[in-house]
Amino acid sequence: MNERGGTILVTGGCGFIGTHLCHALVNAGQRVRVLDNLSSGKASGIPDSAELIVGDVADANAVAEAMSDADGIVHLAAIASVERCNTDWVTSHRTNLTGTLTVMEAARDAAERALPIVWASSAAIYGAARTLPIAERTSPAPMSPYGADKLGGELHGRAAAEIFGVSNTALRFFNVYGPGQDPYSPYSGVISIFAEKLAKGDGVTINGDGQQTRDFVYVGDVVRALIASLDRLLRRRRLEQDATFDAINVCTGRAVTVAMLAETLRDLTGSAGQIDYGPPRDGDIRDSVGDAARMQRLLSIRAETRLEEGLRALVEAGQDVAAQTG
Ligand SMILES: NC(=O)c1ccc[n+]([C@@H]2O[C@H](COP(=O)([O-])OP(=O)(O)OC[C@H]3O[C@@H](n4cnc5c(N)ncnc54)[C@H](O)[C@@H]3O)[C@@H](O)[C@H]2O)c1
Repeated sequence: MNERGGTILVTGGCGFIGTHLCHALVNAGQRVRVLDNLSSGKASGIPDSAELIVGDVADANAVAEAMSDADGIVHLAAIASVERCNTDWVTSHRTNLTGTLTVMEAARDAAERALPIVWASSAAIYGAARTLPIAERTSPAPMSPYGADKLGGELHGRAAAEIFGVSNTALRFFNVYGPGQDPYSPYSGVISIFAEKLAKGDGVTINGDGQQTRDFVYVGDVVRALIASLDRLLRRRRLEQDATFDAINVCTGRAVTVAMLAETLRDLTGSAGQIDYGPPRDGDIRDSVGDAARMQRLLSIRAETRLEEGLRALVEAGQDVAAQTG
């Protein structure tokens, strides 16, 4: 059942994941408002019917204005590049932790509306976890300012539910990929960079032996997890259940080696580009794969898009863009 009546506020709605989410919500007949400072996102990406407020997620007035008459919040705004957060430590902290708290505090201050928040945490909170697959009970041990701020958000998220009655769900995204990721952006991951290079016939260099594994989750499945989480919290509100905080992995549960990823992309692009191997990158985690059981249990969904299918969508979208611009 669709629990969404009024306006849904999406912070960071002009970014990679936010754009996909806004289109899915609007296609489902939902009113959408976006709060984004356009630091990495583009206003042109969101649907025409979505209202855009250009503002900072750590600005309490901007957030309160954006939240007026909202029925629920999806908070995605962040500086999503680990490297950029390493460089701009305090600046990124302001967005990534103060911004999250600002959203939670505004929801607390609108207590009579009991606004639920679904927000983007990250697998980065786990650091180099030793036991695989990584389940939510794994002790967090972030290894970067980015991961530390996401974990800080979760600690406050629990307090928000317990002390202030603000229901919120932290979705721990693993490596998200799909159409719309800008290969030239420092925020984008390995997939869009490899796809772009191979499509041009250029070679790619893998850091290390290529046997490091990741859990690559398709953006369409991430959007389904966001919407299912929001509907779950709205349903709990309708049933007058107690405020809750939950942290849920959003992953496939399947480990893919980076070498296999590059080979699949080379096949899909029909590229003659060479795959080379370079020295491993300092601080890179060797293996990461999530346990998807809680997502299936609490949200009744699976990240079902097969890697090849998701990569094909990404490659075809890239070809469309190249045809339009080139
Ligand atoms: N893409 C992934 O693989 C991945 C993995 C784990 C977690 N996440 C998280 O998911 C969320 C969305 O990621 P994405 O890949 O779409 O990133 P993105 O960079 O494409 O989108 C982030 C959006 O937030 C906006 N933004 C940044 N700072 C802001 C501020 N101070 N005020 C208002 N808006 C601001 C940007 O302009 C952009 O539109 C982020 O919270 C990110 O940390 C992403």
